[in-house]
Amino acid sequence: MEKAIPEVTLNDGTTLPVTGLGTYGLWGNAGANAISSGINAGYRLIDTAYNYENEGAVGEGIKRSGISREELWITSKLPGRYHTYEKALVAIQESLYRSKLDYLDLYIIHWPLPRQDHYVEAWQALIDAKKWGLVRSIGVSNFLPEHLERIIQETGVTPSLNQVELHPFFNQEEQRKVHEERGIQTQSWSPLAKSADILSNETIGKIAENHNKTIAQVVLRWHHQIGSVSIPRSTSPQRQRENINIFDFALSETEMSAIAGLSQPDGRLNNMDPATHEEF
Ligand SMILES: NC(=O)c1ccc[n+]([C@@H]2O[C@H](COP(=O)([O-])OP(=O)(O)OC[C@H]3O[C@@H](n4cnc5c(N)ncnc54)[C@H](OP(=O)(O)O)[C@@H]3O)[C@@H](O)[C@H]2O)c1
Repeated sequence: MEKAIPEVTLNDGTTLPVTGLGTYGLWGNAGANAISSGINAGYRLIDTAYNYENEGAVGEGIKRSGISREELWITSKLPGRYHTYEKALVAIQESLYRSKLDYLDLYIIHWPLPRQDHYVEAWQALIDAKKWGLVRSIGVSNFLPEHLERIIQETGVTPSLNQVELHPFFNQEEQRKVHEERGIQTQSWSPLAKSADILSNETIGKIAENHNKTIAQVVLRWHHQIGSVSIPRSTSPQRQRENINIFDFALSETEMSAIAGLSQPDGRLNNMDPATHEEF
């Protein structure tokens, strides 16, 4: 049977679905139901984080979905306050306890926090956690090219993936080139730019009309065609289904260029520049 969502192969040989479900703000019983409904709609990749305080809801959502663990990819993220080597290993174990899982498919450093300067030892902890089988693949999030360069140089291990802010208003063209050169998979956070302005964008609106698709579907198809794994978040079962119904049409080169033209150098949604942004 053909799989609903295609997969990409990462540089460590593991695979990952090309789109997944974001879970920021999906908490408690309603959160577990939203995660379960996403899995039943066809999502197999679920993106959580220690700091979202919903790894428990993710574990519960998986249980409620009735889909077996082996069919799923679960990502979690290491928070800034656990960047020392020992603390990072504690956080990974705690993520496993909270989600009631034996392993995570992907564990990533949430932010580099360069002013704290502990991200290299955090990366070493992830390398060891992978060796010990706690996690299948390891990566980073919000790492600028200089942070990638440093962890690769100091440990010899290239991350499998970098999850960065990426949407039509901030398309990360330069950063994506660096990923391509180094064999790192790009993943887009806030792929719908949190939906507010994008849903009334005229350029994308016209493209959506051409294909008889919604603006959200065109944007998510655009992520797929630039080679980035998107993780749109939706609490609505109907919009969850809409957001993965993107594999039966293709955007032309002209349409891709029109969307590329919407990007702005200062297009970050909340000015969260990884060189200075700190969250713990
Ligand atoms: N690594 C990081 O630092 C980082 C930072 C931010 C986010 N993330 C991850 O990325 C995920 C996604 O980002 P995000 O949650 O910030 O924003 P997003 O996915 O770009 O947008 C989510 C918003 O779009 C709405 N929406 C979803 N599908 C829609 C559709 N088809 N039509 C209309 N509206 C739609 C949702 O509302 P409804 O729920 O009502 O559908 C929600 O308000 C997060 O959940 C999180 O897992 C990571």
